[in-house]
Amino acid sequence: MKIILLGAPGSGKGTQAQQLKTKFGYHVITASNALRSYMQKDCALGQEIRANMDAGQLVSDAVVWQVIDSHIKKEANAYPHLLLDGFPRSLNQLEMLNRGRETYDYMFYLDVDEQAVIERVCGRRVHIESGRVYHTKFAPPKKADIDDITGEALIHRADDAEAVVKKRIATYLEKTQPIVEQVRQAIATGSGQIKKIITINANAKIDAVTEAIIAQLGHAE
Ligand code: AP5
Repeated sequence: MKIILLGAPGSGKGTQAQQLKTKFGYHVITASNALRSYMQKDCALGQEIRANMDAGQLVSDAVVWQVIDSHIKKEANAYPHLLLDGFPRSLNQLEMLNRGRETYDYMFYLDVDEQAVIERVCGRRVHIESGRVYHTKFAPPKKADIDDITGEALIHRADDAEAVVKKRIATYLEKTQPIVEQVRQAIATGSGQIKKIITINANAKIDAVTEAIIAQLGHAE
């Protein structure tokens, strides 16, 4: 099974990716983590990525494709189940994906209210490397700002400041959300690499969102 999670900042893409990884062994390719790995390197590309992320803008399509395409090529056939988190995020990126040879069984569109995501994202702490996320209000770590599993420090992402979150939401509405309609049209005309798009109510509780996704996938638990 190959699936894609699409949704606004804070819609729960990372959270649901972790759930599906734990329950069914999905191999997760998280676009932002792949991009962040370049930020550790002291190079022009890493600096460009950091500047875009910190400003709440998308990293350029060409850079994203260079990074993600190599992951997809290497990893798509190495695992029984693959999940893309945060790619595609623009109509250009969708086109790039459609030019690839992989087909995707589902795109899950995590539909969520704007106000809910601002609260969720501004309030969370994350462990960047593992991608683990915590909602400090509803699901706090056992010890404040310490990762329950590794004992490492949890951080407040620079781009989780409220002004940047609002910018990320605006970027999402302008560049990413049009993908939903485009994919619907492609499916209706039998084109593109995505076979089905399903809207999920991502305002629901985390487990209810997971159940709604699993109900479509039909995996035995
Ligand atoms: P990225 O890190 O992917 O940020 P994002 O898309 O803005 O998404 P988030 O990680 O903030 O949220 P999420 O949907 O994963 O929600 P989460 O599960 O964490 O990207 C960062 C930047 O990288 C971008 O701004 C851009 O610059 C760049 N980038 C990445 N991909 C790119 C691409 N393809 N092209 C160009 N640039 C790219 O949940 C959020 C919080 O809510 C958590 O605390 C969680 O516990 C809580 N929560 C989750 N679900 C629920 C629920 N149902 N109820 C209550 N709380 C919930």
